[in-house]
Amino acid sequence: PWRMFHTLRADDPVHWQPEPEPNSGFWALTRHADIVAVDRDPETFTSSRFTNLEEVDDSQIAIRRSMLETDGMRHVALRRLLQKQFTPRAIADYGTFLRGLTARTLDNALHKGTFDFVHEVSADFPINVLARMLDVPDSDTEKLIDWGNRIIGNTDPDYADVLLESAESEQYRDLPFRSPASLEVFAYGRELAEKRRGGDGTDLVSRLVNQTPSDGVPLSQRDFDNYFLLLVVAGNETTRHAISHTMLALMQHPEQMARLRDDLALMPDAVEEFLRWASPVYHFRRTATRDTELGGKRIREGDKVVLWFASGNRDEAVFEDPYRFDVTRKQVDHVTFGKGGPHFCLGNALARLEMRIMFEELLPRIADIKLAGPVSRVRSNFVNGIKELPVTVTLA
Ligand code: HEM
Repeated sequence: PWRMFHTLRADDPVHWQPEPEPNSGFWALTRHADIVAVDRDPETFTSSRFTNLEEVDDSQIAIRRSMLETDGMRHVALRRLLQKQFTPRAIADYGTFLRGLTARTLDNALHKGTFDFVHEVSADFPINVLARMLDVPDSDTEKLIDWGNRIIGNTDPDYADVLLESAESEQYRDLPFRSPASLEVFAYGRELAEKRRGGDGTDLVSRLVNQTPSDGVPLSQRDFDNYFLLLVVAGNETTRHAISHTMLALMQHPEQMARLRDDLALMPDAVEEFLRWASPVYHFRRTATRDTELGGKRIREGDKVVLWFASGNRDEAVFEDPYRFDVTRKQVDHVTFGKGGPHFCLGNALARLEMRIMFEELLPRIADIKLAGPVSRVRSNFVNGIKELPVTVTLA
């Protein structure tokens, strides 16, 4: 998509795209500045009409609404329930656990020599971290991984069985993602909630069920279900793809990989470049709440406005030589997690720490790592994903 984004930024940065169906067109925002402006203005550009490109009717919105699709006071109240658990300081407490998990994951994978990096390293790593934050036994992580994979509503043909099954069946109309797996996730979440209600646990579920939101309105069963589901899906595929893209970029730029290995102190800034480069989430969507103007175009109330984060991350007005991967780039002002708005990724500090530790542990262990076959990508307009990344490793 990079060429198309490039052309749009240059020629028509606030572009009306009439497709895919009549009356379901959208505004495509491709410049960094416009993306940030809209992300910062939830009163004019609401998330409450849903945040993906897909057309969703009112009844579906009501069923599927989580904090991501809530604005205003209620959004603040929902977010506050877990905000403290995701601050950089709180996340730092997981440092030792993360390093241990990373070391185990890498030691299992690297001795295989040639293997699929996605399958062996990136795929299960984020959900294992979440399992720890939910304080569930290791034996349950396989289930969480499986649900996470089955729920992601992308358009990749490899997931077609799940999508077809769920889209065609009325029985799943009442479910977010219309996926049978979400029923299993709900049942699992509710069981955890029951066990932890009234207890003094510090895990995410205990925090959710034992606090009253700051607006005084308790979590309904549906609120809890969708909150729990959001936690299971939000950090799973995104962080996985961020790690895989970074591995690919480092293999394509061996001199940069060597540079980093020689000076691991570069890592905190390099992670920001990894995130800019990877852009695992292509877009989120807003809906205009009133008539307004953007880049000289008239936006009407009800119009869909799509923030193409991936394009903002290649904006030449912000990044010098944006198509160059450069681990020494400073102050990388990316929009990978959104920017400046109320929905700014809650898990950003966690994702950053996971990536940092992953590559701090990986680089010293290897003398060389090379692509060992074709890279296959996820087909989706939402996640920029890598499905398979065959590599050959020479140990250090
Ligand atoms: C929101 C990206 C990892 C939890 C978001 C948003 C983006 C995003 C673009 C919306 C921002 C906006 O509209 O302004 C990513 C990427 C990740 C990642 C690229 C990995 C590299 C995580 C992790 C978690 C997480 C690890 C935690 C489990 C959330 C939640 C929201 C969110 C709960 C909704 C926040 C709200 O509505 O207030 N993320 N995310 N994310 N993310 Fe992440």
